[in-house]
Amino acid sequence: MSSSARITNQPLENHWMPFSGNRQFREAPRIIARAEGVHYWNTRGDKLIDAVSGLYTTPAGHGRREIRDAVYQQMEELDYAPPFQYGVPGSFRLAAELAQMLPKGLNRIFFAGGGSEAVESALKVAINYHRVRGQGQRQRLIGRERGYHGVNFAGWSVGGMVKNRQAFGLGLPGVAHMRHTHIPENKFVMGQGEHGADLADDLQRFVDLHGADTIAACIVEPIAGSTGILVPPQNYLQRLRQICDKHGILLIFDEVICGFGRTGAAFAADAFGVIPDIMTMAKAITNGNIPMGAVAVREDIQQAILDAAGPDAIEFFHGYTYSAHPVACAAALATLKIYRDEDLFARAKALTPGFLARIASFRDLPVVTDTRGYGLLGAIDLAPGTAPGARGFEVLKKTFEAGVVVRIAGDTVIFSPPFIASEDHLDEMVAITRKVLETL
Ligand SMILES: Cc1ncc(COP(=O)(O)O)c(C=O)c1O
Repeated sequence: MSSSARITNQPLENHWMPFSGNRQFREAPRIIARAEGVHYWNTRGDKLIDAVSGLYTTPAGHGRREIRDAVYQQMEELDYAPPFQYGVPGSFRLAAELAQMLPKGLNRIFFAGGGSEAVESALKVAINYHRVRGQGQRQRLIGRERGYHGVNFAGWSVGGMVKNRQAFGLGLPGVAHMRHTHIPENKFVMGQGEHGADLADDLQRFVDLHGADTIAACIVEPIAGSTGILVPPQNYLQRLRQICDKHGILLIFDEVICGFGRTGAAFAADAFGVIPDIMTMAKAITNGNIPMGAVAVREDIQQAILDAAGPDAIEFFHGYTYSAHPVACAAALATLKIYRDEDLFARAKALTPGFLARIASFRDLPVVTDTRGYGLLGAIDLAPGTAPGARGFEVLKKTFEAGVVVRIAGDTVIFSPPFIASEDHLDEMVAITRKVLETL
């Protein structure tokens, strides 16, 4: 029996798939069976080009032997050890390497199992920090409309994706949302739009309304990824930073998508020249090969939490069974080595102008209502069809059939190609997608 037949002969109902139309999928499954470099193969053996780097996870390309070998060796040596009150060598090395790579001062690293856990950890650090400094009343968390910070309770509460919120009740109390920055004035702008820095003043309004001394942190994605690559307007992040500084509010950047070269710099914080107090990371930290998330914290923030506890006490009552999993650490170390050895962030930067020009080239299609992007993140908005998201879903199905894997957010088509992609690969992704959009 061929491998494709084995896979498709399995019952499809038992696996409740995440963020998926389970019923539709069972009717017409899209199963990816193999990957190598910038390509996937489906269960019929058709080759598809990966225009999203997995799920923003895999910029170094699929099937990297160095990561596979590191994981294998780590499993032979030490498969698992408890992370509470015990350590493994890889996590200390990884934290030191990350501290070198991160903006100066963000050098205390807490590990988690993925992006959602990193967000929860970051928000808990923020609240705990104020508490140990005698400001326990600072508990409000400020997020943003159209933000995505994962699916756990604090993350979706500060997030602003309507569907991710409405089915699950009230969420955390004391959360407020700034307006998003996707404004018509910046339509068809590639890079940062000129308009909208003043949207950051929403944070000041919350200060005026609630009092700065009730606000713990403001969390944003520097570029909001999941709702369609919303690039911050010029000076917007700078203004948020100023307001946070003025009022003692911690600024958290969720760099789960933006981190590790996606913007052409190591982190979006470097690209935009705004350094947060806390940063979350995941996805590309292991090239998507093993789940892992991380939180980078300013040294003095950690120090305040350490100093507040008795000498032998546990200082931060938080952690996961899979925090700093040795196999994830090995995968991350091998991934960071690839990024360094192949200078992949510089490669992402070099690909950026041609990539953004290709995204902008969709503008002439009648169905396209906006194009935008930054670094190797690009988005094409489509005029809605019969219902919101219907056209996007049609494009997802048709592009898969046509040989390209893109990401769809509502009626927006997203590209985030692997950094190892060639100009020819970019041409191919765009050409296949264009043909599909021409059928709409
Ligand atoms: C900005 C951001 N934060 C958090 C998450 C959640 O990460 P995970 O799915 O690994 O929990 C994501 C996932 O896409 C994300 O884009």
